[in-house]
Amino acid sequence: MTNEHPEVSHRIATGDDREIAAYLEIAQHAAAQASDAQDDSPQGRDVVIVIDFGSQYSRLIARRIRELNVYCEVLPATTPWEEIDRLRPRGFIFSGGPASVYEPGAPTPPAEVYEAGVPILGICYGMQLIAHQLGGSVQHSTRREYGHSVLHLAATITDPLLQNLPRTMPVWMSHGDHVTTPPADFHTLAYTDNSPIAVMANGAGYYGLQFHPEVVHTPNGKQLLENFLFHVCGCAPTWTPANFIEETVARIRERVGDGHAICALSGGVDSSVAAALVHRAIGDRLTCIFVNNGLLRKDEPERLRETFGHNLEMRLIYCDSEDRFLRRLEGVIDPEEKRKTIGEEFIWVFEEEAGKLGHVDFLVQGTTYPDVIESLTADNAASAVIKTHHNVGGLPENMRLELIEPLRHLFKDEVRAVGTELGLPDEIVWRQPFPGPGLAIRILGEVTRERLHTLREADAIVTEEIRAARMTRELWQSFAVLTASRTVGVQGDFRTYGNVIAIRAVTSEDAMTADWARLPYDLLAGISSRIANEAPNVNRVVYDITSKPPGTIEWE
Ligand code: XMP
Repeated sequence: MTNEHPEVSHRIATGDDREIAAYLEIAQHAAAQASDAQDDSPQGRDVVIVIDFGSQYSRLIARRIRELNVYCEVLPATTPWEEIDRLRPRGFIFSGGPASVYEPGAPTPPAEVYEAGVPILGICYGMQLIAHQLGGSVQHSTRREYGHSVLHLAATITDPLLQNLPRTMPVWMSHGDHVTTPPADFHTLAYTDNSPIAVMANGAGYYGLQFHPEVVHTPNGKQLLENFLFHVCGCAPTWTPANFIEETVARIRERVGDGHAICALSGGVDSSVAAALVHRAIGDRLTCIFVNNGLLRKDEPERLRETFGHNLEMRLIYCDSEDRFLRRLEGVIDPEEKRKTIGEEFIWVFEEEAGKLGHVDFLVQGTTYPDVIESLTADNAASAVIKTHHNVGGLPENMRLELIEPLRHLFKDEVRAVGTELGLPDEIVWRQPFPGPGLAIRILGEVTRERLHTLREADAIVTEEIRAARMTRELWQSFAVLTASRTVGVQGDFRTYGNVIAIRAVTSEDAMTADWARLPYDLLAGISSRIANEAPNVNRVVYDITSKPPGTIEWE
């Protein structure tokens, strides 16, 4: 396997940072192309499509729809009609967006969307677009409307969209433009003090909402979306973990035939669920490679082997590569250099192990839907997407391997639900994110065995205490950091000059922003006293009260 792309192998072998960066880019590009070629969209189930005009809420709309057990995808407004049509949508939702419909170059959907004969729900910009494109008028408001508002349903309305809703209800607004005249066959169904046309409809399945039903500040928004899905579009609630597993397993079986697949198992939720799913489909024709880089948390390698190798009876290759990783990290202090060194070494180990397997056809990866949306919308100027990290793990040297990405269409909560349905333990399904470079980027300065031991003990205490307080799930991440400082302390009758451990615990939706967690003082006190007593050479514990921004979640 290692011989199939000699020029790439050579580049890596030279160890030049830029060459490695270029390699990763080539690999990711090829991987993205390969996945785009996968025909893995759900067949035989109802699909609703969110046409994205750059709203910060587009993903949220899709999640709300999926929570109602209807499959939903977000596609940029620039998507060619053929691609949209391939999914046979039962309905469209036009998202909001930062543009004004009357500006030149304002984003619009493919014209065929209006000819498809299926319902359309326009939200905010989406509503204004329907008005503008179908002959109504939209104007800039003198006063932006932002925040809570009260929606009143017009007196005589009995529309399927508004079933089971109170006549008056709170809604969330965020707009600078508004519809002043609806298109010819549209009626006004509801209004607010500031928006005389807050809901409009044409009686043939086209709707416009000036407010946002997808946000929690619109408490009846879920009912409204439910009405749209089930009473307007006529969808069936068939998007469930069990159906997903059945359908995906059948599709993987068909695709792989009697071929072989490999998977780089890190123990993270995504790679674990992806591996378990593929294992259910093809059993021993999947081999998982687990690289212990020596930078994992306490007992992690043993638990992973127990769960996957023993309990789930997967074919698991365990590579104890601690020595080679630590050797390469000697003297490395710069965080980015640590990342590159670890990423590069990982690729070498992975390639070596995969090369020993003989013929392999597929590579399983735990790509999830947010990654896909991010790459779809990365070129979409309308939405500001910030890409932070590439997880270097799992990139194959040989791009002739076809990718299997069974979670490509799932949000994180759906990945967890599928994991649970597949019988994975809570410890894996609810595992907090853990960075590819592991503890190396939580040790400020040089990574040594001794410093790893100190951090591992401290980190295990944080994990245990947070788990005992039943707070693991509500925190995005919680961990210990070994700082580069030493301070004077007094332990027993002796003065000490020891390490400072920092505790980091944050809440977050997606790691783009985060807030430091308001952990109870008693919990912090318990953690602090245990670390000072039990972790070697530590005499001080501090709590990091920085949000992101300005800090990042990790310290390096
Ligand atoms: P920061 O520290 O940038 O982290 O706020 C955001 C999220 O990304 C994780 N992280 C990484 N994950 N490789 C990874 O696979 C990395 O090099 C890396 N650096 C940060 C971090 O744990 C957090 O969840």
